[in-house]
Amino acid sequence: MERTFLAIKPDGVQRGLVGEIIRRFETKGFTLVGLKLLNVSRELAEQHYGVHRERPFFGGLVEFITSSPVVAMVWEGDGVIASARKIIGATNPLTAEPGTIRGDFGLNIGRNLIHGSDAPETAQQEVALWFKDEELVSWQPHLTPWLH
Ligand code: TYD
Repeated sequence: MERTFLAIKPDGVQRGLVGEIIRRFETKGFTLVGLKLLNVSRELAEQHYGVHRERPFFGGLVEFITSSPVVAMVWEGDGVIASARKIIGATNPLTAEPGTIRGDFGLNIGRNLIHGSDAPETAQQEVALWFKDEELVSWQPHLTPWLH
């Protein structure tokens, strides 16, 4: 079953949007298989955003993501990687569609509330970077077998 890595960034936690953000993936019908609140180390932040190392915003991004707690999650379901990206919305909240998380709650590209893996390879890498195997719980949602 497909899995993706999502993280509610410090701005989402500080603004009290954790419940609202989780609700959107839960009510869509995806299955939560990993969840933790953590202070992100500089090492983890630099690894996670390694692809952006040469970009001008890299330093500020690492500072921001390590500044205050983050909610790290793994969600499971058919097509969850691409669907979660749609639910999250475009990188710049000002151009993100209304109805998306960033479109509904964000103003600033550097404070866009949530991260979501962008492809199967990055999803696999990010799940492994942020979670140990034993922190992930496989389970079947009994109430909605017809949905899956
Ligand atoms: P990116 O992977 O391009 O976006 P997304 O989070 O939508 O996959 O960029 C990672 C993060 O870097 C992005 O969420 C916010 C930050 N960022 C900036 O601060 N300024 C920028 O110009 C870009 C492109 C990203």
